[in-house]
Amino acid sequence: MSTSGITEPIDLMDPDLLHDPFHGFARIREEAPVARAVFPGKVDPILLVTRYDDVKTVLSDQRFVNNPANVPGGDVGNVREQLIKMRGIPPEYAKYVLESILDVDGADHIRLRRLVSRAFTARRVLELRPRVEEIAGALLDELPGKAGPDGTVDLIEGFAYPLPIAVICELVGIPEEDRPAWRDWGRSLVSLQPNAMNEPLIGMVHSIENLILRRRAEPTGDLLSSLIRVHDEDGDRLSDQEMVTMVLTLVLAGHETTAHLIGNGTAALLTHPDQLERLRAEPELMPVAVHELMRWCGPVHGTRIRYAAEDVELGGVKIAQGQPVMAILVGANYDPRRFADPDRLDITRESEGRRETHVGFGSGLHYCLGAALARQEGEVAFAGLLRRFPRLALACDPGELQRHYLPGSWRLAGLPLRLN
Ligand code: HEM
Repeated sequence: MSTSGITEPIDLMDPDLLHDPFHGFARIREEAPVARAVFPGKVDPILLVTRYDDVKTVLSDQRFVNNPANVPGGDVGNVREQLIKMRGIPPEYAKYVLESILDVDGADHIRLRRLVSRAFTARRVLELRPRVEEIAGALLDELPGKAGPDGTVDLIEGFAYPLPIAVICELVGIPEEDRPAWRDWGRSLVSLQPNAMNEPLIGMVHSIENLILRRRAEPTGDLLSSLIRVHDEDGDRLSDQEMVTMVLTLVLAGHETTAHLIGNGTAALLTHPDQLERLRAEPELMPVAVHELMRWCGPVHGTRIRYAAEDVELGGVKIAQGQPVMAILVGANYDPRRFADPDRLDITRESEGRRETHVGFGSGLHYCLGAALARQEGEVAFAGLLRRFPRLALACDPGELQRHYLPGSWRLAGLPLRLN
């Protein structure tokens, strides 16, 4: 294996790598394009790919699968049980979390993706925009009231988290009276405490099951009513369990990620005054600015683990059948082979009508289903913040910002701001 310069497996919990994944993965990308690493909770080393082209290959080539059970003759052993234990999920609810669209491959994935895409359309996202603006506006109105005794507010707690959960409720069609419970579940999901998933998971499953019954009797214009209605040419539909799992996946995949796009993106703009001024002067740049913020400080740094379904050669390295591989998105998004001067934040980078080129939302078959919604939430959030608070500023030295250091993600623990 070509791991020139790096002989020991990379420790993904290494504090230096967790604190500066940008430079850490840049070094790995240049010295060992396919590198061995130890992943918390996994005994056998996994492989990391960090170059743009290799990341694209791992995410789009069907020789890599998401579900280890799809590796021919593979010994998947008790992967499922390990996951249940690791995440502290009550076993009878595991099916809702472990059999999501991200856990299936091939025809099963195409089927699920096709059915959900008929309900979760680009048009639905566009039509939601006025409501996203209203929700964001109301949260921004409340923000000054959330200031502490020192006059600063925490954007993560006061805005970045509440916005996506409120938007998901709106999208799915969670009734007003159930939303306080959903907000509480949203808060516990992000508490990072052991077993913190149990209560929200059980609560959300029951809430969605009840709602399916109500919408089946009396459909409305919400996503759940559409998920109940959709079918393909052969009459194939989503089962009730698939619908519950799909809604849960949308909440779990779309909640924290979007919150941290808002947090990281705001911090990035406030620490790059030239870019901030440009965006204030030319608000029409917002959509391309959000693409660049996704590249520069997107919240997801590594994807789900993939498994080689057969022997694959990548960058001159043989990846053996069954080998777990993780695509390091931050490696790809800072690869100078793809992006000129990658360390520079340039909010006009993705303009000139080019399609987005970063891989902050993944790539290939499992490309983020909620990317358009997340971008829209980011656009509305940044525009609202800049418009409402012309003197918005960081309330601490950028070097003092606290983060939750976890492999594969880039999240602020808090973002103290002065609004005026
Ligand atoms: C998949 C990132 C927001 C729903 C993914 C993947 C990434 C990603 C990297 C691919 C994972 C992989 O291949 O292993 C993000 C980021 C977001 C965001 C950075 C916010 C800034 C959302 C939202 C929703 C959502 C708002 C839904 C409302 C999904 C779903 C998948 C997915 C369902 C799985 C798609 C499939 O397997 O076909 N996301 N996401 N995401 N995302 Fe997002």
